[in-house]
Amino acid sequence: MRLTTTIFSFVLISLLTACSSQQTNIESPNGNNTIDFFLDEGTPFYSVQHQGKPVIEASRLGFELQDLPALNDGFEITSIEKSDFDQTWTQVWGEKEEIRNHYSELKVNLQETLEPNRELTIVFRAYDDGIGFRYEFPEQPNLQEFNIMDELTEFNMTDDHESWWIGALQWNRYEYLPEHTQLAEVDTVITPFTMKTDDGLHLALHEAALVDYSTMNIEHTGDNKLKANLIPWHDGVLVRASTPFVTPWRTLQIGETAGDLVESYLILNLNEPSKIEDTSWIEPAKYVGIWWEMHLDKSTWGSGPIHGATTENAMKYIDFAAEHGFDHVLVEGWNPGWDGDWFADGVVFDFTRPMDDFDLEKVAEYALDNGVRLMGHHETSASVEHYEGQMEEAFQLYKELGVRAVKMGYVGHGQEIFWTDEDGNRNYEWHHGQHMVRHHQRVVELAAKYNISLNVHEGVKATGLRRTWPNLMTREVARGQEYNAWGSGENVWNGPGNPPNYVTILPFHRNLAGPFDYTPGIVNLYFDEYKPDNRINHTLAKELALYVVIYSPLQMAADLPEHYEERPDALQFIKDVPADWHDTRVLNGEVGKYITTVRKDRNSEDWYLGSITDEESREFSFTLDFLNEGDSYIAQIYRDSEDADWDSNPYGFVVEEMEVDSETEFTVNLAPGGGQAVRFMHVEE
Ligand code: NOJ
Repeated sequence: MRLTTTIFSFVLISLLTACSSQQTNIESPNGNNTIDFFLDEGTPFYSVQHQGKPVIEASRLGFELQDLPALNDGFEITSIEKSDFDQTWTQVWGEKEEIRNHYSELKVNLQETLEPNRELTIVFRAYDDGIGFRYEFPEQPNLQEFNIMDELTEFNMTDDHESWWIGALQWNRYEYLPEHTQLAEVDTVITPFTMKTDDGLHLALHEAALVDYSTMNIEHTGDNKLKANLIPWHDGVLVRASTPFVTPWRTLQIGETAGDLVESYLILNLNEPSKIEDTSWIEPAKYVGIWWEMHLDKSTWGSGPIHGATTENAMKYIDFAAEHGFDHVLVEGWNPGWDGDWFADGVVFDFTRPMDDFDLEKVAEYALDNGVRLMGHHETSASVEHYEGQMEEAFQLYKELGVRAVKMGYVGHGQEIFWTDEDGNRNYEWHHGQHMVRHHQRVVELAAKYNISLNVHEGVKATGLRRTWPNLMTREVARGQEYNAWGSGENVWNGPGNPPNYVTILPFHRNLAGPFDYTPGIVNLYFDEYKPDNRINHTLAKELALYVVIYSPLQMAADLPEHYEERPDALQFIKDVPADWHDTRVLNGEVGKYITTVRKDRNSEDWYLGSITDEESREFSFTLDFLNEGDSYIAQIYRDSEDADWDSNPYGFVVEEMEVDSETEFTVNLAPGGGQAVRFMHVEE
C-alpha cells in the first residue's frame, strides 16, 4: 500500500507527574466533533459532542475481569498525550483511491491509586466524520494474563432515536432483515447499528480493527443507554488476553446526511496499513460461476445426474467468461462432502481432491488458457477444526492451479462451532466470538502466503481489516441475493425473499462495515422453470444499479450464462461496470428509502451512477458537476420504463444514450421498487 504523506504534524504534551486535573478533551480537526474525558471519583467517563450538541452523554468505560478486581475505578490520570495526524494513503483497491486520515488524538494514561496499581490507557481519536476510541493494556507486573468478563463501555444516547438494527445472538448469524423502530424497542443488536436523531443527524456505532477479541454487539440497557455486549466463549469468558494488549476501536460515525455515513472512511483509517508488501497479485475482479443454478435447484452441489460442478459445465462457464470479459469462474460443489447432511457436520469435506466428474486440473488449465481464472470454494460448514487440518494444503493446491481468489463458507448454527480440548471435550463457540476471530485471522494470513484473496460468507462482520490485509477482499455475512432463490411460502429461511426496500437499507447499515458479496445482476427475475413461487423483488434496472450502489471488489454476475445471452442489453452494463473505483459520492439518500451513488472508474475518466428506491416511485434532478469540467460524455442510461413496477412489470426497461457534460441537469425517474444505472463514458478529444 503506497503511503503519500501530504501533511504530518505531531504535538506531544506529556504530563509526567500525576495530573492535577482529572478531565481533558479533544476536538476534531474542523472542530465539528469533541470528545470529553473525565474521572468521576476515579471512574473513567467520556462524552461526545457534535457542533456543540451532545451526541453521547457521559458514558462509563472499564472492564470486569475474572478472578481479579475490576478495572473500572480507583484511577488517576498519570499523563495525557495529545497529537494531530494528517496523512493521505492509497487503497490497493476500493471505493476511493486516496484516503485522508486526519484526526486529533488524545491518549489518557490511567493508574489505580491503590494496589495493585494497574495501568490502563484509553486512546481517543476525533475525526471530522466521527470518533473512535480503544483501550490499551500496557505490559505491567500486576496485570499479565487476564480474562475479560464484561466490557463496561457505554454509549449513552441523547434521545429515543430512529433506529435500524438486527438482533444479535441468533442462530442464523447476521442473515436477517433489519428492523426499523425507535431506540426504545432495541434490545441487543449487531453492529453497524444505525440511528437518526430528530435533528436529522445520522449516527452509526461499529468497531474497527477486530484482530484478537470478541465481536461487539450493542445492548440497550434502558433509557437510551447503550452498552458493549461481547460474544462469550463457551465458558462465559468474553475475551482471553495478556499484556501488552489492545482492544478494537469502538467507533461512532456522525453524518449530517445519511450519505455522509457512506462517504466516511473512519473504519479503514482506524486500521493499520497493509502488512502485505507486494500486492500486485490482489486483483479487483468480476466473476461468474456455478452457483445460482444450485440455488435455483437446476443442479446440485452433491453428485448425481444433475451435479453442477462437472468438467463440461465449468468449461461452458469459462467460455462465457472469456467471451464477455469476466475474470473468474467460481465453482461450488467441486469437492467430496456435498452428498448427505454436510450442513450438520462439515467433517465430510475434502479440500484437496475433486469429485470424480470434475477434472480440477483440466478446468484450471482451460481457464488460464482462456485468460480466466478458476475461483476456489471452501465450504467448511463451520467444522473449523476439521478445515484447519487441511487448509494449508488446500491453499497451496489452488495456488499451483493459478487460483487467485477463494470463496469461504461457514454455514452452520451461530453457536455451534466446536473445538476439542486436551481432555477430548468438545467446546461449542459462537461464529462471532474470539475463537472464530482468531481463526479468520489465521486464514487470511495463510491465504496471503499463497497469494490468495478471500470472499468470506457466514464469517465475522468486516471491521476494516482489509486495509491491513488487502487480500481480505469481500464478505457476505448478511442476507444476500440467495434469499430470493430460497424465500417463499413454506420456506424456513426467514420468509419471502428480500423485499424491495432491503437494498436501500444496506448502504447505511451492513455496508458501512465494508464490501458485500451480495451477488447482484440477476436478469431473469422470475424463476419460472425452476422455482415459480420465488422471484427478485426489483425491476431489471435496479438489479443493474446495485453494481454501483453495493460495493464489492469481487463482484459477481450471478445469473446463468443462458439468461445473460437472452438479455445482451442488460449484460452490457454488467460487463462495463468496474469493481474498483477512484472516487465515490452519494448524491442523495434516506435510510430504507432510496440512494443515488456515483463512482469514478479507477482506470479511466468514466463515471457510473446507481440509483435505487424502495416501493415508492421517485424523481431526482441534479447537475452532473462531478464530471470533468468542459469534457463531453455519452450517458448510457439503463432505466425503468414509464410503466415499470417491481411487482407488476419488473421487465419495463429502457436503454438509451444522451450527450452530457458537467453542466447538464440530469433527471432520474425510478419506478416503484426500481432503479437506474448509468455509465458516463468520457469522450476522448
Ligand atoms: C451459503 C453461501 O452464502 C452461498 O453463497 C453458498 O452457495 C452456500 N452457502 C454453499 O456453500
